[in-house]
Amino acid sequence: MKIDVLTLFPEMFKGFLEESIMKRAIESHKVEICFHNIRDYSKDPHRKVDDYGFGGGAGMVLMPQPIYDAIESVRREDSHVILLTPQGTPYKQEHAYQLSHYSHLILVCGHYEGFDERIRSFVDEEISIGDYVLTGGEIPSMVLMDSVTRLLDGVIEEESHIQDSFHENLLDYPVYTKPVDFKGMKVPEVLLSGHHENIRKWRYNQQLEKTKERRPDLLEER
Ligand code: ADE
Repeated sequence: MKIDVLTLFPEMFKGFLEESIMKRAIESHKVEICFHNIRDYSKDPHRKVDDYGFGGGAGMVLMPQPIYDAIESVRREDSHVILLTPQGTPYKQEHAYQLSHYSHLILVCGHYEGFDERIRSFVDEEISIGDYVLTGGEIPSMVLMDSVTRLLDGVIEEESHIQDSFHENLLDYPVYTKPVDFKGMKVPEVLLSGHHENIRKWRYNQQLEKTKERRPDLLEER
């Protein structure tokens, strides 16, 4: 998969790509990520990308031209263009699975107080990572890249996806490691039994109980 990120702050992504699973996925060519500074597409002599909004109101508004040109410079026939905005569709695990099947994603990070409404017509979809407002689309696009990259073939063990929270709208089951007894808190007996069928049943039951207690909305969707 190729991901092109259009942003005013490419430096924000540095650490994110240089550690752990993202780093490995890039090194093993499972994903290629390129950053493009929206400012490079400005036609203004001072590389201006925003201006006052018509009709008044606080804050600067991103102009459509630099975003349009940035998208067109990387767009391919197989591209899927996503705008990160709090007004987008709420992002869920199921959505990450769907995005993982595209060969080319273009992520457009909004910034400043807002962006010209016409920018919406250049993209295929708008995604929000939650009902809160961040200073820009950079962190949301990292969230999206991380959640999609880990689903790409060969990035992590396939079994891990099946066991993920939200797989089939259930939260993950509890896991334990050594020691068997930590300050009087013991690992459940069944996990030490070696009885695979009983372990499977116990885990499934734990998933149902945990989801019922913490996220009944997920069970309703199921
Ligand atoms: N930009 C600012 N806040 C956002 C959010 N919650 N989701 C996606 N993009 C955003």
